Amino acid sequence: MAKQKITIEKITSLCKRRGFVFLSSEIYGGFAAVYDYGPYGIELKNNLAREWWKHMVQMRADVVGLDSGIFMHPIVWKASGHVDGFDDPRIDCKDCKTRMRADHMLEAFGIDADKMSANEINAEIKKLKEKGKKLKCTTCGKTNLTPAKNFSLMVKSNLGSPTDELLEKNAVYLRPETCGGIYLNYRNILDSTRVKLPFGIAQIGKAFRNEIVARQFIFRTREFEQMEMQYFLRPNEMQEKYEEWKKMRWNWYLEYGIKEKNIKWHKHVKLAHYAAEACDIEYNFEALGGFKEMEGIHQRGDWDLSQHQKFSGAKLEYLDQKTGEKFIPHIMETSAGLNRMFFAFLHEAYTEEEIDGSTRVVLKFDRRLAPVKIAVFPLLKNKPELVKKAKGIFSGLAKKYMCEFDDNGNIGKRYRRQDEIGTPYCVTVDFDTIEKDNSVTVRDRDTMKQERVKIEELDDYFGEKFKI
Ligand code: GAP
Repeated sequence: MAKQKITIEKITSLCKRRGFVFLSSEIYGGFAAVYDYGPYGIELKNNLAREWWKHMVQMRADVVGLDSGIFMHPIVWKASGHVDGFDDPRIDCKDCKTRMRADHMLEAFGIDADKMSANEINAEIKKLKEKGKKLKCTTCGKTNLTPAKNFSLMVKSNLGSPTDELLEKNAVYLRPETCGGIYLNYRNILDSTRVKLPFGIAQIGKAFRNEIVARQFIFRTREFEQMEMQYFLRPNEMQEKYEEWKKMRWNWYLEYGIKEKNIKWHKHVKLAHYAAEACDIEYNFEALGGFKEMEGIHQRGDWDLSQHQKFSGAKLEYLDQKTGEKFIPHIMETSAGLNRMFFAFLHEAYTEEEIDGSTRVVLKFDRRLAPVKIAVFPLLKNKPELVKKAKGIFSGLAKKYMCEFDDNGNIGKRYRRQDEIGTPYCVTVDFDTIEKDNSVTVRDRDTMKQERVKIEELDDYFGEKFKI
């Protein structure tokens, strides 16, 4: 049956209803652009992160992991160019006070304003005016707008004494990308492990950006998680490794269930201040109107290590033991947003099926990503012998799999609930289990077929099902 249209309302409603994602501080009216991940959300997020780590670190002899602090020396962000140049152009409506991304507003006129400064954008707005065209507020439709201004995306905080005179002196930034901590530890990792060029350092962690507009659910938030890998190499290795990693990242999405028709490459024409070549893997976020960036793969050259060497005075060159040559390694990065990936996989899994005149909503996740792997039910809640047996099965399976015990409502409702959170298998203990065959009914999420399996064979049965 054809998949029905996925809307943002359907996704957000499912996320709230089934405990995937909640708006931050909801009882206080909400806190824009920050989201909390509920019981099933954290499982899905952890599973995505684990599978990313598996392919990016565990299965690679040339990549090691790291977990660096969110706060770093404030000069780090001066050296990286973020303090002076990590801006988006902003326009405000003088009437209704809506804040807008000026570059996005120009898109409506067919102008690609990606990476344009506020001055460049104002020049474009002037040209439009000369042709009799005016930008309009996206909320009230009026044209009473401020000129574009550069707006820093850096989130400032302070550590130590928060007294007025020390506030500016103690100002620190919450990292806007996780890779900063990788550059600062490159020397430590070279000195403490046996890595040799080319090699990568990967990390997963929070990043913070003062986004001007953040109204697309978890797609663009002010607090989010990145999964980044910085690959250190000789300049002449760049092109080959860039192509290799592009292929590897593309295939990773396919392996975990993204359909090839739903991803595409976007090659950047205008580049970030550090990049020499860059492309994104875009996902078809139907709920947001089409293809949008999910992961970036960038050639960063020697920008980062050179800048940190210059600003810190530390020697960050690499000594090639074979040739005796000393040089600053170049860097190729893969940078994925965990939350965007979560959104994409939720999209991909979201399925509506017509069953006996009603709609079944089911999340058809790859089994490795499903938040709950097996749900265990006693047929009836008020039959202690069934409940006891089901609890015993739950305790055994839960040692290996994320399981859920549920004795609420009728079985049909319980299946629906598990379908909506994407649980691949439901196990039901019934009267035959106790009285006849010591077997249970195992129901498959996708086919909805049921089969009887002996309790003592469940371990092997699921071992086979969850085998990769
Ligand atoms: N270190 C390179 C870097 O940070 P980026 O393109 O700015 O590159 C990489 O970010 C990824 O991080 C994006 O592809 C996206 O998935 C995620 N990301 C960036 N800003 C985000 C935001 N405000 N909310 C959620 N995810 C974001």
